[in-house]
Amino acid sequence: MCGIVGYVGGKNTVVTLLDGLKRLEYRGYDSAGIAVVRDSALLCVKEKGKVACLEEKITREWPDWMEMTGCTGIAHTRWATHGAPTHDNAHPHMDGKSRFALVHNGIIENYAPLKKRLQEAGCVFKSETDSEVLVHLIAEFYDGDIFQATASALKKVEGTFGVAVISLEQPDTMIVARRGSPIVIGVGKNENIVASDVAAIVAYTQRVIFMDDDDIALVTKDSIDIRNIDNVPVSREVSSIDWSVDAAEKQGYDHFMLKEIFEQPDAVANSIRGRLDKANVSATLSGMNMNPREMAMINRIVIAACGTSMHAGMTGDYYFEDLAGISTQVEQAAEFRYRNPIIEPNTLIIPISQSGETADTLAAVREATNKGATVSAICNAVGSTIARESGRGVYLHAGPEIGVASTKAFTCQVTVLLLMALKLGRGRRMSREAGQQILDEVEQLPELIRQVLKTADDVRRVAEKYADMQDCFFIGRGYLYPVALEGALKLKEISYIHAEGYHAAELKHGPIALLEERVPIIALANDIPGKDKMIGNIQECKARKSPVIATATIGDTDIDGHADDILWIPQCSKFVAPIVTVVALQLFAYYVAAKRGCEIDQPRNLAKSVTVE
Ligand code: G6P
Repeated sequence: MCGIVGYVGGKNTVVTLLDGLKRLEYRGYDSAGIAVVRDSALLCVKEKGKVACLEEKITREWPDWMEMTGCTGIAHTRWATHGAPTHDNAHPHMDGKSRFALVHNGIIENYAPLKKRLQEAGCVFKSETDSEVLVHLIAEFYDGDIFQATASALKKVEGTFGVAVISLEQPDTMIVARRGSPIVIGVGKNENIVASDVAAIVAYTQRVIFMDDDDIALVTKDSIDIRNIDNVPVSREVSSIDWSVDAAEKQGYDHFMLKEIFEQPDAVANSIRGRLDKANVSATLSGMNMNPREMAMINRIVIAACGTSMHAGMTGDYYFEDLAGISTQVEQAAEFRYRNPIIEPNTLIIPISQSGETADTLAAVREATNKGATVSAICNAVGSTIARESGRGVYLHAGPEIGVASTKAFTCQVTVLLLMALKLGRGRRMSREAGQQILDEVEQLPELIRQVLKTADDVRRVAEKYADMQDCFFIGRGYLYPVALEGALKLKEISYIHAEGYHAAELKHGPIALLEERVPIIALANDIPGKDKMIGNIQECKARKSPVIATATIGDTDIDGHADDILWIPQCSKFVAPIVTVVALQLFAYYVAAKRGCEIDQPRNLAKSVTVE
């Protein structure tokens, strides 16, 4: 949720840390802070609000900040959990004598008894955060070895952490550690940079080390010494990031979200590249690491995911049952481990997560793994915890997604799910002809999405017409039901309009009571099975005076006279319709939010990656 960045090297430390924070701001943006060791002092500045507010304060308080080169420093951008977003609750936190400074992501679950004991021992706490206990513990344990002090402190805490620590005692050294909350070390020349996310690192190096749980690293400008919490040296490989800093910049778009919407033809093309097995009319998904016999044995699939990824999973449910005949269940990842899930030997668990760090989805992976399940994850972030702990799976290769509202990850997740279903289906009863139709359509996907993007101005006009609405419903059926949920989620996330997604038939079981002329309906009425019934549902809404915006297939005249406004979608089958149609709804949400002047890339209260339960 929050973002950490740390630097040790010869560059301007403050500039480097602020640059890193700006790249991580999508992780959390209610307060920010920075600490550097300079001339025998540990300096710290924190500020409520965005990184820009912090930068202003630094300019005021450290007039020579542009000359602060070669210092060791850490910085943090926060998404509040324990304690409101205030100056005092912002990180870094320091011990009473200002010898140590610490930034922390995650949750210290046993912070209350630790805090009580530390207070009894004379520590004065300045914040309401759980994180502050850690820095006091480190100071208490310190007896000349910062590594040992950090290890001893971390052994006392329960919960999750990604931490970075600097100290006056060892000014050229930074300590980083992780358990359940990611830390990546960027390996530079005469400098090293650490962060909670590679987005802050790629501008400096594409060579990174993903730390494992309970790793603690002692980082100087020319060394990285990683040991486990028991002080035993461990070796971690250096990986290469396959995208450059350009991918994490707006490149002329007003918002990352808009850029990512428009990137979808390429993102989907990257997700399918090398994966269409034309000879066997199937898909090549080598990361699943399962032979045909193992695939044929799967008799049940459980998908665990949150948010947009869960909506992708709901589409996968249709694919697996329809194309492969495998009974599938989609579980909110937050529920998975608490409801004693039934996992049999031939159950395949598919966690879906763009970030690969969502706490609930990760917990589902661990629960499933402990129960001996086969887990095959769908992730975008390479080297992420879920990807690594699942051991097998499929990467999206969608490139970094920075906009908090997920767009290209969704279309790529659904595309990969379709490929998985094709592969599983072809290993069962699916004919070559049926498989060929899917292959052809998947190949067409980038072009189909491009056609929707060409209608962006039309979508904008419709969106602006309805931008003042307070409430609305998205309704869909069959393959477009999960898309209705996703369309509503997109709109509420970034425009703060109360939007609900419903199955069109469910509308009659309650929500119809709310319909009136001020409550528009967004009805997904593409020309795929279920359309006739959808047109009936539209009539029910019109009878209650709700304005109707419909998605409809280009050239379909059946929709004539039923909708007030239409978002036109190119002709395509029900299998790819979710991927193509959602693009129009993403644009719709974007333009409504833009018209309302909302902070689209950083919507209030939301975080890109939710690493707490
Ligand atoms: C947060 C984000 C959503 C995302 C969800 C799951 O709520 O704001 O956009 O869909 O987490 O994230 P994941 O990284 O697991 O896909």
